[in-house]
Amino acid sequence: MKHLLNPLDFTVEEIDELLAVAGDIEKNPSKYAHVCDGKKLATCFYEPSTRTRLSFEAAMLNLGGSVLGFSSADSSSAAKGESIADTIRVISCYADICAIRHPKEGAALVAAMNSGIPVVNAGDGGHQHPTQTLTDLLTIHSLKGRLDNLTVGLCGDLKFGRTVHSLINALVRYPNIRFVLISPPELRVPEYIREDVLKAKNIEFKELGNLDEALPELDILYMTRVQKERFFNEEDYIRLKDCYILTPKKMKLAKSDMYVLHPLPRVNEISVEVDKDPRAAYFKQAQYGVYVRMALIMKLLEVNAPC
Ligand code: CP
Repeated sequence: MKHLLNPLDFTVEEIDELLAVAGDIEKNPSKYAHVCDGKKLATCFYEPSTRTRLSFEAAMLNLGGSVLGFSSADSSSAAKGESIADTIRVISCYADICAIRHPKEGAALVAAMNSGIPVVNAGDGGHQHPTQTLTDLLTIHSLKGRLDNLTVGLCGDLKFGRTVHSLINALVRYPNIRFVLISPPELRVPEYIREDVLKAKNIEFKELGNLDEALPELDILYMTRVQKERFFNEEDYIRLKDCYILTPKKMKLAKSDMYVLHPLPRVNEISVEVDKDPRAAYFKQAQYGVYVRMALIMKLLEVNAPC
């Protein structure tokens, strides 16, 4: 039984295969409409979500399966003190696969260790968000036609941003990827990623505080929200929350084929005027999240793609 807790749980070949299936799903959705008939997905979300939970649910429904679950800790027996280990043992009796989101790092691993069904990490605290990464990889591949030879700018909250950590882990496995890490000093990429991932693998990267300076050299700009829920101190959040705002004026500094991605939700970091720019790809990215989660559910349930 396979779980997805970290993007590195899949080989590059497995990810390429998943992206190929997701691409076929986009072109031929009706082919996949019954491949999971009779299967159930449980979504166990202890933390708020719009895209991840609903795109997982849409994915399973599109495959002919059904869904059950809870969307907050308060509406589950976690509110009465039930452990993740006990919860997943019980969910294993009701569903064939589970997607779990939890504010604590490592929660999905604990679930996987106690589960009778495949577990997908749908975000664990500030740690990892591998299905967002699959979404990001599919989006980049669809827009640029490749996952190698790219200069990728990551901007905003690089410290707590689990989507950033997962994306770096995934992209360093492709040739000739350069990173420009744009953040205030307080929100730098964690040391373990700089040392154990980027430096250890000889990946070219630089850290900047200024978005304007970075823009002209980027092939992809990955914007992120400063996450209020990860701060212990409201004052720090207020000081940092608007440190980067992408505007049409700033977009003029970028290449004509530099695409803007964002895992969403957005707060202020991309002005709504940028949405009209053909390089704004974040809503398309949310759509790709459904295709790639369909491919993922099929893989973890060992359902073959129809001919
Ligand atoms: N990108 C993402 O994880 O969005 P949600 O928090 O809405 O699921």
